[in-house]
Amino acid sequence: MILEFIFYDFEKAGWFEGGQIMKILAVVGSPRRNGNTHIVVRKIAEGAKAKGAAVKEIFLGDLTIAECDGCQCCWEAERCSKDDDMQQVYEQIIGSDGFIFGTPVYWYGPTALMKAFVDRFVYFNCEKNRKKIRGKKAVLAVPFEEEDEQTARLVEEFFDKSLNYLEMAVSGKVLVPGVGKKGDVLKKKDKLDEAFGLGSALVTQIELGHGR
Ligand SMILES: Cc1cc2nc3c(=O)[nH]c(=O)nc-3n(C[C@H](O)[C@H](O)[C@H](O)COP(=O)(O)O)c2cc1C
Repeated sequence: MILEFIFYDFEKAGWFEGGQIMKILAVVGSPRRNGNTHIVVRKIAEGAKAKGAAVKEIFLGDLTIAECDGCQCCWEAERCSKDDDMQQVYEQIIGSDGFIFGTPVYWYGPTALMKAFVDRFVYFNCEKNRKKIRGKKAVLAVPFEEEDEQTARLVEEFFDKSLNYLEMAVSGKVLVPGVGKKGDVLKKKDKLDEAFGLGSALVTQIELGHGR
């Protein structure tokens, strides 16, 4: 079981305040529950938890996240104009120290679920909201069917450039080629070990950044 809800207050829809527990938000962008992305994200989460972090997982397929239509209300008012689940997710993002973003390759890009989620980061693209996310680190989990690692190039660039633009950083990635069927990744022990290590490394990098 990867979720540690003890640090998450569902009624207030926010992280439990107090203490020095590092908070990591794990975002599963595949619509396939318990599929390859979900498994790798969970492994990264295990690595983070082994280093003492609390991890909250969200499965984008469970949520209603409308596409950003560029109204730019979020740059004027405090709030995004879309009254959907992203309102709660914004709070989770703001309250987190770091992120795990997982998406399979879908036609050489991220899934539509992940693209809609990241599009909504336009909220953070103004000075007022930028400070809520500036400097935060993320790691990526990207499985795909083809054997050539270049298959994930556009997904890598999508995250690298978008997060860099937002003054965040991708601090590590685990790419998993050669996995097509649900659960194929379970045969790739080396990749699961790499994922675990990535989660632990994320916590260390965030600690160093905080001067802890
Ligand atoms: C709509 C769709 C598009 C896909 N496009 C690609 C692709 O361009 N290249 C590739 O290697 N795999 C592609 N795949 C295969 C998935 O990346 C692969 O099955 C992955 O393991 C799915 O991860 P999941 O189990 O987390 O959903 C595609 C799968 C779907 C359903």
